[in-house]
Amino acid sequence: MKTPYDILGEDGVRNLCNAFYDIMDADEQVKDIRRMHAESLEPMKEKLFEYLCGWMGGPQLYSKRYGTVCMTTPHKPYSIGPMERDQWLYCMDKALEQINASDELKTMLKDPMYRVADAVKNRNSLEPEPKDENLIAIG
Ligand code: HEM
Repeated sequence: MKTPYDILGEDGVRNLCNAFYDIMDADEQVKDIRRMHAESLEPMKEKLFEYLCGWMGGPQLYSKRYGTVCMTTPHKPYSIGPMERDQWLYCMDKALEQINASDELKTMLKDPMYRVADAVKNRNSLEPEPKDENLIAIG
């Protein structure tokens, strides 16, 4: 059976990750997740590329370099609820459109992408906890 990596190849996965973070950088609809990230998204393009190569059935670049495929730990510092998950998936859908992914590939990825994004979620409520910087200092 063909894997997503067989369909996309190395260049395709790279184009997808570049498009993903360019969309995250530019689209107002995902500003909540954009502001969680560092100013430059360039290092993330490379990390997601390495991760998705392995996840899509290609070379295990991320696990070879970092010794794990667990995505829970690196996301622990961030408050990720259903809204943040859906913003992430929105970027992925748009990126797949932008690289002209085939319907076959989009169908193949739909459920597994949802599952991996949902697994990264670490908060169930829709609203983020109020941030300290939003509190008015008293006393
Ligand atoms: C569900 C919504 C998600 C949000 C809001 C989110 C957000 C983040 C943030 C803020 C970082 C740190 C970035 C930085 O250092 O500047 C990060 C790292 C990362 N994310 Fe996500 N992420 C999500 C889902 C995912 C998913 C589903 C995957 C994989 C399929 C993924 C792959 C990665 C990778 C590979 C890293 C780098 C980890 C490392 O430092 O080695 N993320 N993510």
